[in-house]
Amino acid sequence: MQTKSRRQLVAGNWKMNGDKALVEQMQKHLNAANLENMDVVICPPFPYFSLFNSAVKLGSQNISQFDSGAHTGEVSVSMLKEFDCEYVILGHSERRADNFESDELVASKVEQVLKAELTPILCVGEPESVRENGTLFDYIAAQLDAVLGRVGVSQFSNIVLAYEPIWAIGTGKTASPAQAQEVHAFIRAHLAKQDDNIAANIVILYGGSVKGNNAQELFSQADVDGGLIGGASLNPEDFLSICQAANQ
Ligand code: 13P
Repeated sequence: MQTKSRRQLVAGNWKMNGDKALVEQMQKHLNAANLENMDVVICPPFPYFSLFNSAVKLGSQNISQFDSGAHTGEVSVSMLKEFDCEYVILGHSERRADNFESDELVASKVEQVLKAELTPILCVGEPESVRENGTLFDYIAAQLDAVLGRVGVSQFSNIVLAYEPIWAIGTGKTASPAQAQEVHAFIRAHLAKQDDNIAANIVILYGGSVKGNNAQELFSQADVDGGLIGGASLNPEDFLSICQAANQ
């Protein structure tokens, strides 16, 4: 694989899965691995945060848009900081669907995370119907524009993006490397309309049925800078082999 100028990143999104034993196994595998040319992030459910040691970078799967106070069931960004959380996944299609998170709410959460100097992993991605009706690029642009309008393009130097086509999540139906590359290149070109430098340097992950046997080909695409991994991040061997594909 051609070495990329952007540092590659692989993040494991455990979603509402895992247990204490998995925390232990995952740490054992990652601590023994030699992954110095990339960043590895684990995004476990909140109860497991304090069980991780400092060798593993941590990300959250969500955050409140509020600072503190009467918001039952929510977790604030300052609480996460106390547990050495560095990244926050925002705009995941499951939260957009299950929790009715609008583009505007996602944008306000991105702003909250940036204010605390953590790194949002901002997810965008289309349902299959949108790809079929030919409005894919408008759909992705609108998701990006909601955040661009709120925080401004300069803040995108502190954001990681993830392209996750909804039809590829948990389905085993991975986007082809060419399909992933096409959308990643579109995202970069969309940002370049406002700032060339930020567009060239932003890390854009691909997510959707990434496995050990397809990671290498996906990550070798010019505008794919690593992955956001769901199911395969629950198996330490599989996750490690995906990380190794990005550790070039
Ligand atoms: P899968 O890897 O299970 O398809 O999930 C992708 C995802 O949603 C990561 O955030």
